[in-house]
Order: sequence, then structure tokens, then C-alpha cells
Amino acid sequence: MAEFSLPSNSVIKATGKTYPAPAGASRTKAFKVYRWNPDDGENPRYDTYSLDLDATGPMVLDALIKIKNEVDPTLTFRRPCREGICGSCSMNIDGTNTLACTMPIADVKGEVVITPLPHMEVIKDLVPDFKHFYAQYASIKPWLQTVTPAPSGEERIQSPDEREKLDGLYECILCAC
Ligand code: FES
Repeated sequence: MAEFSLPSNSVIKATGKTYPAPAGASRTKAFKVYRWNPDDGENPRYDTYSLDLDATGPMVLDALIKIKNEVDPTLTFRRPCREGICGSCSMNIDGTNTLACTMPIADVKGEVVITPLPHMEVIKDLVPDFKHFYAQYASIKPWLQTVTPAPSGEERIQSPDEREKLDGLYECILCAC
């Protein structure tokens, strides 16, 4: 049977930094976030940030943005649209691969554990490397391909019935979850 082991520099260190909730916060929640910086030579760690939920937006992405803006600007993650459209904020939250911008904080019991997608190489903190994913995607050519040339100078006309056949086949936002 094949045996696999992780490189020693990928083992998560037991202790990271802890950032307490602001003074006076009455409704707090802890966010345990995977941290790894390829430039410092250190192993990954979990840093724990306690936030005041009364001063934080409802989604996990809101918490990450608050941490970056007000607590620790070194935290790195992607978040272009904040609307569940671009697929860039995919990560593992509470053991599930999902989008941080559509994941309500209230749906997570206890502390919120956040790691990068577990099946991707990590570039830094919560940012995975999508190169391999996109190469696999391109290799299967999952887009509409025609066998006839388009009418010269005109668009290719499609009936509502023909368009309906695409429903359920094109909605993937390529988040890699
Ligand atoms: Fe675009 Fe979450 S930020 S899908």
C-alpha cells in the first residue's frame, strides 16, 4: 500500500498569535485562521482573532475583512465581488469547502475555523494556487463548441427552447469547492 507523508514544513504549529476582542465587546466570537507566509521560512500556524459581532457584518468574509482592516493587515485572502459570483473567496470554513461571502457567521457553532481549500497548494494564508485547477478545466474544454461556422456578420440565433437546454449546465462559478 502506498504511504504518504507531508513535508515537515507543512505541519501546523500548535501555537499562533491570539488577538483579544476589543474592550467593552459583549457578543464576541473567535475566528481561528490558518496562516502561512512562504517568505518567512516558518511552518503554518493558526492565529485566533476575537471579534465583536455587534460591530461585524453577518458573513464570514465580513469578519475576515474586519480582521484585515482593523486588527491584522498581514492576513491575505481573495474577495473581489462579495456577492457569491466570482468564486474567489472559496475556502474551508468549519470543515466545509464554501464561499466566505455567502457563509453566515451565525451558522457556525463555537469558534470559526478557517483554512485554505484542502486540495490545493497554498500561495499564502487563505489564497490557494488555481493554476492546476484551471489547467484541468481547460483540458476538458467544457464550453459550447460548434461544428458549423457562424453566419457571416450575424449572431447565431438561439430559440428559448434551445437556451433552456443549458440551464443547470453553466452556473458553476469555478470556485473549486
Ligand atoms: Fe466573489 Fe465570494 S467574493 S464569490
